[in-house]
Amino acid sequence: MPTANPLSSVTAGVAPEALLPTSSRLPGFYKLDLQDRCTVLQAAAGFSPEELAALTAGLDTRTADGMIENAIGVYGLPLGIGLNFLVNGREVLVPMAVEEPSVVAAASNAARMVRAGGGFAAEADESIMTAQVELRGVRDHEAAVGRVRAELPALLAEANAMLPRLVVRGGGVRDLEVRGGGGAERLVVHIHVDCRDAMGANIVNTLAEAMAGRLAALAGGYHGLRILTNLCDRRCVRVKVRVPVSVLAAGDFEGDEVAEGIEAASRFAEEDPYRAATHNKGIMNGVDPVVIATGNDWRGVEAGAHAYAAQQGRYSPLATWRLRGQELCGELAMPMAVGIVGGTLDRHPVARAALRLTRARSAGELGMVIASAGLASNLAALRALASEGIQRGHMALHNRLHNRPSSVTAVAAHNVVNAASVVEAKA
Ligand code: MEV
Repeated sequence: MPTANPLSSVTAGVAPEALLPTSSRLPGFYKLDLQDRCTVLQAAAGFSPEELAALTAGLDTRTADGMIENAIGVYGLPLGIGLNFLVNGREVLVPMAVEEPSVVAAASNAARMVRAGGGFAAEADESIMTAQVELRGVRDHEAAVGRVRAELPALLAEANAMLPRLVVRGGGVRDLEVRGGGGAERLVVHIHVDCRDAMGANIVNTLAEAMAGRLAALAGGYHGLRILTNLCDRRCVRVKVRVPVSVLAAGDFEGDEVAEGIEAASRFAEEDPYRAATHNKGIMNGVDPVVIATGNDWRGVEAGAHAYAAQQGRYSPLATWRLRGQELCGELAMPMAVGIVGGTLDRHPVARAALRLTRARSAGELGMVIASAGLASNLAALRALASEGIQRGHMALHNRLHNRPSSVTAVAAHNVVNAASVVEAKA
């Protein structure tokens, strides 16, 4: 449920900083042809021509061949830019890889409304990934738990000794927890590791495998599975917004009517898991495209999101909305296992350029941008549902995109354009 925490542009755990010189407000961007959009983006992002080329070139087959087995080609997704995002006072151009029309436009439109209320106020937990070591054949749980706990300091020291480079970067094993595993002879040890800016799957899986024998011996059993959990609930991001009711007006609907409708839609999702699933799909409409564009594991983020949504015993919305006076207050919380180093980013030049575009300086900052895109998408969907319905805008956009003259022609006709003149002429 939403709390009454004051929204500020600087929240706990986020260093205050000056606005960047560029803006994520690029009015008229959608009206430009693709090549002009790239030119404007390059100027707004302060990208070099090489950086822009890396962002827009797509993946080559040679690189793809080095990424997965049995590669035969590259499957393309449109890459768009979410505009108007102000996250903790920072202007953010949000890269979004997605096939569904209206997702990028809807998120950008909602971000503009959120901006009118001061933007997204976000915070992120430390990057704690959790490995599970399943211990089987443990007859005396109490004694086993006692033996593991007694060894805790030594176990933590041993584990950290296996991660010297991570420890140097300020990360490492933070805690070890023994849980009943549901079965009569099963215990589960959770190893919580601060993975800093890595997504961390390899780090915690390697650690779990290395420590399983010792843990099994202590527990008087043998080990079963050794793998991370995607329900990384110690690695959550939280985002809050306060949207002035006046900016929510849509068609014949006044802002306060729309705001009331959005709160009612939120309550519906809070009370009905069938609706909550669709509500959360609308959130993932914003989350997944950024996770994909920045080379992160969207299946992991999806698994974490839905497990978290069901954690209280009933599937619930990840974001909720309340009308307070003349403000619509929304908040979202969800696990966010993403990284800004390693993994796909080592091999995928588009993902690296997309990540640079976000200017995220830590995994937590990237997570906050992703969650902001999720909350924006949710707001856009609920606003449409609470007013004219979703289909009108969706179909209008669909038709506009379908009838657009081929960008290939536009690109062929396009010569080098000065970014400033494009902005002036077409914004
Ligand atoms: C469609 O991609 C997403 C929505 O169904 C989300 C929602 O219903 O909240 C519109």
